[in-house]
Amino acid sequence: MLQFEDVGMTFPDGTVALEHVDISIERGEFVALLGPSGCGKSTLLRIASGLAPETAGRVESKTDQIGYVFQDATLLPWRTVERNTGLFAELEGMGKAQTKNEVAKTLEIVGLSGFAGHYPRQLSGGMKMRVSLARSLVLHPELFMFDEPFAALDEITRQFLNDEVLRLYGAEKFTGVFVTHSVAEAVYLSSRVVVMAARPGRVKEVFDVPFGYPRGPELRYDPAFAELTGRVSESLRGAH
Ligand SMILES: Nc1ncnc2c1ncn2[C@@H]1O[C@H](COP(=O)(O)OP(=O)(O)O)[C@@H](O)[C@H]1O
Ligand SMILES: [Mg+2]
Repeated sequence: MLQFEDVGMTFPDGTVALEHVDISIERGEFVALLGPSGCGKSTLLRIASGLAPETAGRVESKTDQIGYVFQDATLLPWRTVERNTGLFAELEGMGKAQTKNEVAKTLEIVGLSGFAGHYPRQLSGGMKMRVSLARSLVLHPELFMFDEPFAALDEITRQFLNDEVLRLYGAEKFTGVFVTHSVAEAVYLSSRVVVMAARPGRVKEVFDVPFGYPRGPELRYDPAFAELTGRVSESLRGAH
């Protein structure tokens, strides 16, 4: 679905954000990216989505149906939940009736049906994030990229939203690329964890996550889960 071959990114000011990055992501895979601040994770997602061109190597993406969720929900304060959720569909030129229909279905899926007429200021941080997820889901992306979406939320809300993402992944069968600072989140969600190192940003180590889907909260108490998060944490510590 997405392939990085010896990709490098040097900004005009000389900052080398990425160097010799090789990552190959199969259709339907869920890959987590972990790494210290500034190691080029956001840059990697921007390149993958075509928002910024790489300066070395080759990037191949099999789709242009891409969903993108950021740490900041970036909702429009003057639009209701319903109209925020329909924003990307509107921008893509989806018809009014279809948008209304898709938005209603998607709000149901993310548990916000009762909040369609609310404004962003009336929502909790977790609910705003659900709207942000819904806004991309409406377009049924084949490749869904997440850039530290839950970093600003409390731990319990984050765990609920992790289960939400897993449920959506099971239902929608998208290919996922998820950037996070949380080792537990990375292992809980993904089938592969890529640990990156900084200056210049590159792949340090890759871990296969052996747990099948669907997954549930009990996985968090599995000794094998603790063992793997321990190994990933150790790799991450060495990446700083
Ligand atoms: N437009 C830019 N111009 C120059 N340097 C940049 C630009 N965007 C990001 N960088 C630098 O590239 C590196 C990687 O940034 P980023 O991809 O945002 O890292 P991360 O998301 O892993 O924290 C950092 O050193 C950052 O300062
Ligand atoms: Mg970033």
